[in-house]
Amino acid sequence: MGDAQEPNGKPGEPRLNRRERIYQWFDRRTGIGSLMHEALDEPIPGGARWAYVFGSVLLFLFISQTITGVFLSLYYAPTADHAHTTVAYIVKEVTGGSFLRSLHAYGSSAVVIVLLLHLTQTFLYGAYKGRREVLWISGCALLGLMLAMAFTGYLLPWDQKAYFATTVGTNMASEVPLIGSTLKRLMRGGNEMGTLTLSRFFVAHVFLLPGAILGLIAAHVYLFRKAGAAGPPSEDPIKPRLPTERFYPRQVLMDTAVALLMICVLGLLSHFSPTDLGPQANPADTQYVPRPEWFYLPVFQWLKYFKGSLAVVGIVVIPTLTAILITALPFIDRRLERRPWRRPFAVGIYLAILATLITFGWLSRHEDRLDPAIAKQVAKQTEETEQFMREPFEPEAAASSLSAPVVVVLDPLAAAGKKIYESESCDACHGENGVGTSAAPKLSGATAQRSPEELAKLLRHPTEKMLAGEMKPVDVPEDDLKALVAYIKSLK
Ligand code: HEC
Repeated sequence: MGDAQEPNGKPGEPRLNRRERIYQWFDRRTGIGSLMHEALDEPIPGGARWAYVFGSVLLFLFISQTITGVFLSLYYAPTADHAHTTVAYIVKEVTGGSFLRSLHAYGSSAVVIVLLLHLTQTFLYGAYKGRREVLWISGCALLGLMLAMAFTGYLLPWDQKAYFATTVGTNMASEVPLIGSTLKRLMRGGNEMGTLTLSRFFVAHVFLLPGAILGLIAAHVYLFRKAGAAGPPSEDPIKPRLPTERFYPRQVLMDTAVALLMICVLGLLSHFSPTDLGPQANPADTQYVPRPEWFYLPVFQWLKYFKGSLAVVGIVVIPTLTAILITALPFIDRRLERRPWRRPFAVGIYLAILATLITFGWLSRHEDRLDPAIAKQVAKQTEETEQFMREPFEPEAAASSLSAPVVVVLDPLAAAGKKIYESESCDACHGENGVGTSAAPKLSGATAQRSPEELAKLLRHPTEKMLAGEMKPVDVPEDDLKALVAYIKSLK
């Protein structure tokens, strides 16, 4: 290398071979040597251990989620019309598409599991003690962001399960005092769930949250390195005394081994038990029993105990207090004692929380099995999902183009009536464009043949049968009623 500024072989300096010279050239320009030293030579008091692998495995999973996510987004379109079709295309047509989607879906569960293990290890080892408050808080923020990733990702396939679970999830936001309904509308991009909701969730899932997570991971690793590895529970968290071992090679090898094991488990699961996709979301379906992803089941069960005016306690007050308690842990527990058997109170609370979560999750499944109506509906939903998975891919969503008669554009009065039909939530029972659902008959046939007077009277004074079907008397100004009737008449 003819580098005039750096003549090789100054007197007293050892002669470098070609490889060393290239390395030195690069190092002088990039500082790669001190970077590698910084990354790999971190001293670990007491030496490498399997207990320390979880942080690295999480980092690995995040990278894996990013890669699979990028490939999925090559095919995905975040609109109510196309989201489900594009995911069906990934699952049924794209080579390796189902495998890829399953890797991403199982990967998200793996993140939650490994996060819990990481948290458990940090907690039991008292590794948050000794000037590690900010490090702990950054970890809590990462936990929150990961849960938000799982929540936003769940909606994207836009199948029945996704749609109804997210309806429940976003409805919960309206329990927040004062800003609740604004918050809900902010998440949904309106009052109802639709394309705006999907694009908001998509943007959060692929841009905002990953960006924030990336920044926080950097901060978390930096803060960890700044505080230094805490070592085993017997170690002083501020001034370690045990002999140290460097991060490379043994700890790196352990981390890599567990990451490889993780790939194998995710790969086997994705191959032998691919994640399924249900039929496209049908907002008019009033029978659907929504159930969240397994790790949200304890929360779901918990909320059953807080109905009506108590809801705000279960949804807002207690979760907020818990989050504050967990985040503030290093400020509350200031003793430097790290050995778990010397911290019975802290460890007891931790185990109690864990046991509660597991019990609630189990109870949720158990109650579903005990209630025959729910068990039957859940079985029906599973059957519908299996049915959909067996069907060949159909290029355009059958549900939206076949079952809804295309209403050719209406006269202005009927068009105004259509708006009222939707704002009065008639479509919740009678379906979009009055096609009918399992909850109420279609309006497009015989009903539309009735005279305007008769229809107006029916709407103001519903029959016994309509009342029994929970249809309320229509309570709108006279002009709006005329428009509504004109709209129903236009459906014939
Ligand atoms: C909670 C569900 C529900 C909602 C919301 C609802 N309906 Fe109904 N509606 C029913 C049921 C159930 C019946 C049929 C009862 C029967 O005859 O079996 C019905 C019947 C009707 C009929 C009579 C159909 C016929 O030919 O006998 C009309 C018209 C009608 N609804 C219009 C509306 C309009 C307009 C709205 C919105 C303002 C609305 N409904 C909202 C449940 C609902």
